[in-house]
Amino acid sequence: MKRSENTMKLYLPSLSVNESLARSAVAAFVAQLNPTIEEISDIKCAVSEAVTNSIVHGYKFATGIIYICVKYYRDRTVVIEIKDKGCGIEDVSLAMTPLFTTDTSGERSGMGFAVMSTFMDKLDVYSKRGNGVRILMTKKLA
Ligand SMILES: Nc1ncnc2c1ncn2[C@@H]1O[C@H](COP(=O)(O)OP(=O)(O)O)[C@@H](O)[C@H]1O
Ligand SMILES: [Mg+2]
Repeated sequence: MKRSENTMKLYLPSLSVNESLARSAVAAFVAQLNPTIEEISDIKCAVSEAVTNSIVHGYKFATGIIYICVKYYRDRTVVIEIKDKGCGIEDVSLAMTPLFTTDTSGERSGMGFAVMSTFMDKLDVYSKRGNGVRILMTKKLA
C-alpha cells in the first residue's frame, strides 16, 4: 500500500480504564479527516470491542500490553491494528461466529467480531493459541 499520511501508535496496559482511553484516542486521531458522526461512532465501537477482547480474553490472567496502530491514507482509508500477546485464539473462524463466546460469566454476548466486521469495511484476525491476537480493520471514509 502507498505511504500513509499520518500514523499514531499507542501502547497501553490491559486495564479496563484504558478501553475508553483507546476508543477516544483513536477517535481524536481519525477526527483529522472530518469524518461523519456515524463514521466516528462506528470506529469507536469497533475499537472498543477489539480492546475489550484483549483485556478480558487475551490478558484474562495477567495484565499485558495492548498495541494499537492507526494510519490513514490520502484516499481517506483508515487502517487500525490492535494486537495483544495474550492467550491467543485456537480456532479463529469459530471465534468469529456470531454469538460464539468462551465467556462463562454471562457478561459477554459473543457479538464482538460481528460488531467489528459490521462497522468496518474489512476485518482480518490472525492468531495462534498462546501467541496473542492481531486484528486489522479498515474503513474508507466518505
Ligand atoms: N484478544 C483475544 N484473545 C483471546 N481470545 C479472544 C480474543 N478476542 C476474542 N477472543 C475469543 O473469541 C471469542 C469471541 O469474541 P467476541 O466476538 O468479541 O465475543 P465475546 O467477547 O462476547 O466473547 C471470545 O469469547 C474469546 O474466546
Ligand atoms: Mg468481545
